[in-house]
Amino acid sequence: MDPSQVKIPPMKDLTADNITQNVHTINSLCEDERMKYVLERLVTHLHDFARETRLSTQEWMTGLLFLTEVGKICTDVRQEFILLSDVLGLSLLVDSIGHPKPPGSTEGTVLGPFHTHDAEEITTGASMSHDPKGEPLLVVCTLKDTTGRPIPNVKIDIWETDSTGHYDVQYPGRDKPDGRCYMHSGEDGVFWFNAITPVPYPIPHDGPVGKLLKKLHRHPYRPSHMHFMFEKEGYDHLITALYLRNDPYETSDAVFGVKNSLVVDIGRAGPEYARKYGVAEDHALLTYDFVLVSDTETGDLRARNSKEALDKLGRKVKIVNGLPVPDLD
Ligand SMILES: [Fe+2]
Repeated sequence: MDPSQVKIPPMKDLTADNITQNVHTINSLCEDERMKYVLERLVTHLHDFARETRLSTQEWMTGLLFLTEVGKICTDVRQEFILLSDVLGLSLLVDSIGHPKPPGSTEGTVLGPFHTHDAEEITTGASMSHDPKGEPLLVVCTLKDTTGRPIPNVKIDIWETDSTGHYDVQYPGRDKPDGRCYMHSGEDGVFWFNAITPVPYPIPHDGPVGKLLKKLHRHPYRPSHMHFMFEKEGYDHLITALYLRNDPYETSDAVFGVKNSLVVDIGRAGPEYARKYGVAEDHALLTYDFVLVSDTETGDLRARNSKEALDKLGRKVKIVNGLPVPDLD
């Protein structure tokens, strides 16, 4: 961009009282309506935060050094920023806003920092965990739309820890994925596989986020769960998880992910499942019926919710590309 072509308003003698408006003015040169709106709100809240807390220079620098540490510990397989977002409740909030669910559909939850893109595809009935110390678990699920029709050929990512509560990426010598896979639903919308019974685990707490939790007197544990992610064109991308009932951390998840509709009981196969899936009658069994929402349904609901929420705040907005921007007409 040629600086001589940009009309920058004159800015001098800025104070606590007029700095915010001046930052808005210069940022308003941005041609992307949505980005301009997000930046305007971000700067407003950041400045108000500093004003309301009378943020000291030392505290501001502590915050910057903390974020620097968060960045430094990140690698291809360790995502401390997601963890930070998770423990601050932001991940859950963003998922709730971006993926609203009509009644009867499967609720979403936090992605967490342990999803990878290198999982291998398994076929129906195969095993996604090779930990001999885990309790073998048969998982049988159905996948339907909100009208009850089965959805075939959905890509399903599944990931869980081993029996010690560690994901494969937490082992320094990891040479291939384990405890994770992807598969596709069948023509009848059914998918089933073998796994191990999930166990509770602490989120990585040897880094800056762990130190923050300690300072806040918060524990780092997540209740036992198994992650699922569903993808198919025409359907809203669903990131969710199933949580085991009566886990000691069921009501104090460090990343706020548990929802009642996602809490499940681990049963036993019994004669019917034992015969059908070739396991012993006392084999651990998890069943669940997932319901996906179409892109259109989610988009409509999201737009309606946005309008309502911003109406309450007295903001006039229009929806562009599914997201609100100020309605200046
Ligand atoms: Fe997890």
